[in-house]
Amino acid sequence: MSLMGQHLISIEQLDRDKLAEIVATTRRLEPVSKRLQRCDVLKGAISANLFFEASTRTRMSFHTAFARLGGNVCDTTGFTFSSISKGESLEDTARVISGYADVIVMRHPDEGSVARFAERVNVPVINAGDGIGEHPTQALLDYYTIEKEFSRQHRNIDGMHIAMVGDLKHGRTIHSLCKLLSLFDAIHFHFIAPESLRLPRAMLDHLRAHGHHVHEYDDIAQGLPGVDIIYATRIQKERFSEEPPAGYAEQFRINRAAVARYAEDHTIILHPLPRDSRPGAFDLSTDLDEHPNLAIFRQTDNGLTVRMAIFALILGVADRLEEYFSPVQHYVPDRLSRLDPPLHIDLEKEFKS
Ligand code: NCD
Repeated sequence: MSLMGQHLISIEQLDRDKLAEIVATTRRLEPVSKRLQRCDVLKGAISANLFFEASTRTRMSFHTAFARLGGNVCDTTGFTFSSISKGESLEDTARVISGYADVIVMRHPDEGSVARFAERVNVPVINAGDGIGEHPTQALLDYYTIEKEFSRQHRNIDGMHIAMVGDLKHGRTIHSLCKLLSLFDAIHFHFIAPESLRLPRAMLDHLRAHGHHVHEYDDIAQGLPGVDIIYATRIQKERFSEEPPAGYAEQFRINRAAVARYAEDHTIILHPLPRDSRPGAFDLSTDLDEHPNLAIFRQTDNGLTVRMAIFALILGVADRLEEYFSPVQHYVPDRLSRLDPPLHIDLEKEFKS
């Protein structure tokens, strides 16, 4: 079934063919996210961003993705400034917004809330994170990043080793990425977390039932050797009623010393971001920022392109993108930061591979 007109609530809606279609569409949009071409295929369309939980990159990348395809965005953030604070139900809000916008992107603190919202309307709804539930577009951008990094290394996702580190219990990006990777074959999952933050049993069972190899560790010294990908995550402090676990310390921290000691030369380091850089958080260390395998900003850049592709597919314009391309007239820097490769040379290299 085509994605046109569909809600995107869970990775469970997708199969390998759909993933391939999303990747192919994303690749075609690279010239737009790299600012070589403009595209106004969504001129006249409106997206509504409803973010009832904290967000920087997800909200802004959905916004800029829609705008880079020529559409307009209206948005509301938090409960305080929305009518939900006056007692309005999610269902009423859904019906109202569907009268204004052609697609709705929503983040909410309650698991299942975005699905409930989507049931009320025929305008496509995209889940941008529902509590500890899912974050499907993050998994898609993680997957696109892995594909791209692996194509440079001539590696395959089937049979790979991936370490997932941190808050595996509450991390919705972990839950969606596990579901997505379960569509591949014989992956070795190294789950590294303290007892209280382990991946839910149902997810472990799901992976095993799909023929994957599941290993659990409570220390990176055991869990990191031999992995192709490290996927680090933040402790989701906002999801704890009490203090987060005391046991989360140095043995879970991904930093330069740990990578040098336990990882392989080719191991790619990912993180959905934000990383918690405060002392005592033991999140992914900034001392890796100049490490060539640290792909966290390649991930955020890919997020924009993947979200453009998702809009194009859901709104049924993916087969006509290039007809709406025109050269960019405005100033574009040569590279996005001191640590980045040149924006456009990189693109040429990627298209040859
Ligand atoms: C994540 C989220 O909101 O689930 N952030 C994101 O969207 N990139 C991860 C997090 O908040 O830790």
